[in-house]
Amino acid sequence: AGSGQIFVVSNREPYMHVRQGKETVCMVPPSGLVTAIEPVLRACDGVWVAQGSGSEDRLFVDSHDRLRVPPDDPKYTLRRVWLSAEEESGYYDGFANEGLWPLCHIAHTRPIFRASDWECYQTVNRKFAHALLHEMEDTEEPIVFVQDYHFALLPRMIKAVRPDARVAIFWHIPWPNPEAFGICPWQAELLDGLLGADLIGFHIPLHCNNFLDTVDRVLESRTDREHMAARRRGHTTIIRPYPVSVAIDPTGTDRAAWSRTSDELLREFHIKADKIVLGVDRMDYTKGIVERLQAFERLLEDHPWHRERVTMVQIAAPSRTRIPSYADLRRRVEATVEQINTRFETPDWRPVLLIERQCSHEEVSDWYRAADICLVTSLHDGMNLVAKEYLAARDDEDGVLVLSKFTGAAVELRDSLIVNPYDIDGVADAIHRGLEMNATDRRLRMQRMRRHVMEHNVYRWAATVLGDLRELRIETPDVR
Ligand code: G6P
Repeated sequence: AGSGQIFVVSNREPYMHVRQGKETVCMVPPSGLVTAIEPVLRACDGVWVAQGSGSEDRLFVDSHDRLRVPPDDPKYTLRRVWLSAEEESGYYDGFANEGLWPLCHIAHTRPIFRASDWECYQTVNRKFAHALLHEMEDTEEPIVFVQDYHFALLPRMIKAVRPDARVAIFWHIPWPNPEAFGICPWQAELLDGLLGADLIGFHIPLHCNNFLDTVDRVLESRTDREHMAARRRGHTTIIRPYPVSVAIDPTGTDRAAWSRTSDELLREFHIKADKIVLGVDRMDYTKGIVERLQAFERLLEDHPWHRERVTMVQIAAPSRTRIPSYADLRRRVEATVEQINTRFETPDWRPVLLIERQCSHEEVSDWYRAADICLVTSLHDGMNLVAKEYLAARDDEDGVLVLSKFTGAAVELRDSLIVNPYDIDGVADAIHRGLEMNATDRRLRMQRMRRHVMEHNVYRWAATVLGDLRELRIETPDVR
């Protein structure tokens, strides 16, 4: 391969081969990261290094653990990296998802830091570095785009061996303030790994500032607020906000072939309601699913008029199911749904429909178009791409977005109804307001937000990050 080729690294892979009954199917996992990066790699080719996590993944790779994807229309290379059950448990379940995830999301779930998990995290970062270095062997001045909190140590590992590489890492989740981050016993090591990169991206300026504050507090490195930079071991890292986005098809032509009308959808799910309030999430405690259900219950209490007229549909894709806090959440969500349904249901109407499985992109898009309101009530969220996907799906320019103020998306989408998800009455009011909003107002808000997302789409996001990375002057860091 020539120079300047792009290499993406993430934990989650864009296509998983899994067994479903007697068949093997290829599915796209529910992940904001995948939603954002996949269209970009389709457009610019390159190599994506990720964990092979589907039960049948090994059957679909060549002798170098590679395959071309999308399988039915190959556009780029996926290199799968295999983890042992022990690595998976210590690095993914443990350090990444019981440690860093609750550390960075202020959702009041206590992070767990085990020394053995930290060991695994380092081992797996080294393993991915090894695979990546191997993929880049024949490329001069490769462009390396690392994704997310699974790989904080990777930038420095790569630079140590390939100082000619241009390395960016994008942190898809929030970065908290230094007091919150400071409880991590390995905060200095994480920062040092990250500062091996030439460029670190966050969604919003707040997370950039929190990061620089943390560097100031923890390392004896110099930060330069004017240039949003940190200097360490003779190497400069630039820190910038890049709000991630989605690919949007302005004409809606892509879907004509497969989509169902709202009537068809409601009939299929036996829903007899005039209006649909929709939630789409991974089953994750940062998403505020219980709070949202409570707000819907409050709406039915305070405005009996909506009973038998409005149904709430909550799609919750199973996620990180081996982790106790996720299993707890699932039980709480199910119990809350049960309680609301028992309290309010009538022979013809079920207040809440909980769909606990992963739905295809097509299916979710049908739901987006059937939804009078899309509810995004994250307690804390880096960006939240469900909000932007909802807008992207609404080429009829109708529908209302209710959006948590604690998402990155709320910085941009000012025409949504912005809520504090902890304020149950406030969310119930916003749902009510959304249901009562007149068609002209809905249309104006939707048009403005769609225009924003069309202009600031994910191709522009990637072009900006990679453009900035290409322009940087690369000095050789002192790697010792
Ligand atoms: C968030 C993270 C992604 C992750 C996704 C799904 O969006 O930022 O890195 O892929 O959640 O979680 P999972 O653990 O299933 O990959």
